[in-house]
Amino acid sequence: MKKIFDITDSLKKSKKKPLERLSPILALLFEKSSTRTRISFESAMLQLGGHSIYIDSKTSQLSRGESLADTSRVLSSYVNIIAARMYRHSDIEELAKYSSVPVVNALTDLEHPCQALSDVYTIKEEFGRVKGLRIAFVGDIAANTANSLMITAAKMGAEVSLVGPRGYAANFEYLLQASKFETIETTDDMQDGLKGCDVVYTDTFISMGQEAEADKRRKLFSKYQLNEEVMKFARKGAKVMHCLPAHRGEEITSDLLDGKGSIVWQQAANKMLVEKAIILYLLNAAR
Ligand code: CP
Ligand code: NVA
Repeated sequence: MKKIFDITDSLKKSKKKPLERLSPILALLFEKSSTRTRISFESAMLQLGGHSIYIDSKTSQLSRGESLADTSRVLSSYVNIIAARMYRHSDIEELAKYSSVPVVNALTDLEHPCQALSDVYTIKEEFGRVKGLRIAFVGDIAANTANSLMITAAKMGAEVSLVGPRGYAANFEYLLQASKFETIETTDDMQDGLKGCDVVYTDTFISMGQEAEADKRRKLFSKYQLNEEVMKFARKGAKVMHCLPAHRGEEITSDLLDGKGSIVWQQAANKMLVEKAIILYLLNAAR
């Protein structure tokens, strides 16, 4: 992680195209929608001097039954990196198993690791450190973003407070892993959960693939909206984060998203920078 962040820092100062000579190709194989991740990866590759090819899984032979293993074997003979956004986490593991090139997780039902890296990088940029901070994740504490954030933040020395409805558990595997590095607390009480927090993070209540449960989930999480009122429970000057896309008026109010404590736009912009570092790291091309 330190290496990725160091490369990210160095990229901020450089306008060079370190991949121009190598001219590598990134395949973006996506089963789900994306604005930020797709465009930031494509732009990152272009700015580094490489190329990218977007493959909508619905128009590939995957949609006609070609196996993930065969797709991965073939794709990896054409490109230098694959970034994939899949419904099932096991599918990206299958892709990685049969690929001869690095496979980047661009989101699955369980994880969103590139997002978490750029989120924690943003926190470090904002506070000058991650160690010793307290980060709350509010709402769908079992979301892919929550799983990846708790592990990445805890590894960097931040405490994590998961705040969600009673009877709705965080993913135990991720909780267990993150707890090996730092304190991870869970509560259904917004006041308790936000107490002493430097950062308050939320995500949609209805992740991609959960559309059939939309009404049920809206009801379940309705008391866990981030707004000006609940931010009073956090530390004064606490920062607000959201991976986006936001559903204004649902998991977060517009006041908060557009307010002075919001670092969501910086967070979104940093995705491209951190993805550049991930690409350089995987291609072993960082100077
Ligand atoms: N945050 C994020 O991954 O956004 P997209 O779904 O638009 O890629
Ligand atoms: N939890 C959300 C993240 C979107 C970037 C989802 O999976 O839809």
